[in-house]
Amino acid sequence: MNHTEIIAHRGSRGTHPENTLEAIEEAVRVGSDGIEIDVHLSLDKEIIVIHDETVDRTTNGKGRVQDLTLTELKKLDAGSWLDPEYSNCCIPTLKEVFNFLAEVDYKGLVNIELKTDRYSYPGIEEKVLAFVAENSWPFTIEYASFNYQTLIRLKEVDPSCKIALLFENNGENLTFLDPDIPVKMWHPKLSWFKKESLFGTFEIPVRVWTVNKSEDIQFCLSKQVAGIITDYPQKALEIRNKW
Ligand code: G3P
Ligand code: CA
Repeated sequence: MNHTEIIAHRGSRGTHPENTLEAIEEAVRVGSDGIEIDVHLSLDKEIIVIHDETVDRTTNGKGRVQDLTLTELKKLDAGSWLDPEYSNCCIPTLKEVFNFLAEVDYKGLVNIELKTDRYSYPGIEEKVLAFVAENSWPFTIEYASFNYQTLIRLKEVDPSCKIALLFENNGENLTFLDPDIPVKMWHPKLSWFKKESLFGTFEIPVRVWTVNKSEDIQFCLSKQVAGIITDYPQKALEIRNKW
């Protein structure tokens, strides 16, 4: 039995509009071990689940998330860009995502990526942790960021929170890791992992992204990675469960 977690990237991004409740519902339906989402802050400091810094690519609107209010963001169609069938999809808040997952009694992992690599969103770390602490959720919650300062801030505010460092290039930001900040999980890009895995074992577990092709899923399974972050969780689960 292979224990690699299958984590649905931005919900089930390969089949549904990314980071919407519909994509997240699909990730739950197929039995994903984990769900990855991205968060930013709106103009009125609500925690918004969306990947890009702007709404341009994934909605019918224009502008930066940080320049729009929650009311303005909620009016946008976040599904038609993928397929007219999804014209009713909208941008969810983190609260809506968590309430949905609690309603369906989801017991897996929710990995929240704080998108602070291009804009700093002052206070986002405190806001996210404070929101999460408001309730006892039935699922496990972890945090990831490409921005190491965000991970440090999360740990300062809540030393018990679990953090993962994202990286995509040569992993050079690993050389800046402070041994006092316990990053216990790496989230490397697949291209980095394919090179580095030739050289043996890793000091800490890795969850690799974004692993979509069958042969890449099989490669990661053969290396017994901790997790596979994929746009196609159903396909990855089928491969993993036959492994
Ligand atoms: O979790 C890995 C992945 O989400 C990082 O890249 O650009 O899809 O947020 P991105
Ligand atoms: Ca992400």
